[in-house]
Amino acid sequence: MPGKLIRTALVTGNSSGLGLGLTRMLKDQGAAVYGLSRSGCPEETAGDIRVDLADYAGIAPAMVQLLDGVERLDLVVLNAGLLGQIQSMQEADIAEVRQLMDVNVWANKPILDHLLARGIEVGQIIAISSGAAVSGNFGWSGYSISKAALNMFVQLYAHEFPETPMHSLAPGLVDTAMQEFISQEVDVERFPALKRLQEARGTDAMPDNDTAAQMILDSLERVRAIPTGRFIDLRNL
Ligand SMILES: NC(=O)c1ccc[n+]([C@@H]2O[C@H](COP(=O)([O-])OP(=O)(O)OC[C@H]3O[C@@H](n4cnc5c(N)ncnc54)[C@H](OP(=O)(O)O)[C@@H]3O)[C@@H](O)[C@H]2O)c1
Repeated sequence: MPGKLIRTALVTGNSSGLGLGLTRMLKDQGAAVYGLSRSGCPEETAGDIRVDLADYAGIAPAMVQLLDGVERLDLVVLNAGLLGQIQSMQEADIAEVRQLMDVNVWANKPILDHLLARGIEVGQIIAISSGAAVSGNFGWSGYSISKAALNMFVQLYAHEFPETPMHSLAPGLVDTAMQEFISQEVDVERFPALKRLQEARGTDAMPDNDTAAQMILDSLERVRAIPTGRFIDLRNL
């Protein structure tokens, strides 16, 4: 059954990886796509603002500029995220894990608050989470904590978007800069959970960003059928 037509969308983290794939796939469907990131989207889009999501004060003005004149977004994807270091908890630097919380969780607050304050109608909200939100494997450090917090952030905000299905969604493995980092930089002997990721590279278990983006877009209708606020792993949907 065909899903709802997406005419307008907002995608955070549109410069690379999954966010860029989503932007491309949505554009291919004819959607006007708005987005933000630090380095900018390499695709021509309806609106693109460069902003550092770690700089909380800069986000609201960026949203004002980005969505000037926009009354409705059929889809919002809170995708921007940082991995940080794979490390034990005792090695984790507090400043670094705070930055992960800022970008992966709290940056989404001024974004959603702007949508609410401006009364922009939103058809569906997806926050890109991770299996790391629940797996608790050794080494996932601040990233796991930030994604677990993101899941609860979504559950709480879902009450404030009563007309809008809102979910946190683990996309499964996607071959992006994050996986490039994991495949090259990390000591797999020390962090065994990473072995599976390295082995998945180049196989169907780790699609490229465009393929993974299309899988997410194809899942939106099934996601909407699940009670709002929930965390969903695309691999189990
Ligand atoms: N790849 C996977 O296997 C996988 C698995 C599960 C979940 N995820 C999640 O998927 C999402 C996308 O990740 P990806 O794999 O596509 O990695 P990626 O290629 O590194 O993309 C991350 C995106 O987030 C943006 N971003 C990061 N920090 C930012 C900041 N301070 N301000 C503004 N934008 C920022 C980046 O843009 P700039 O650098 O230009 O700012 C980029 O567009 C993340 O939430 C990640 O946790 C990925």
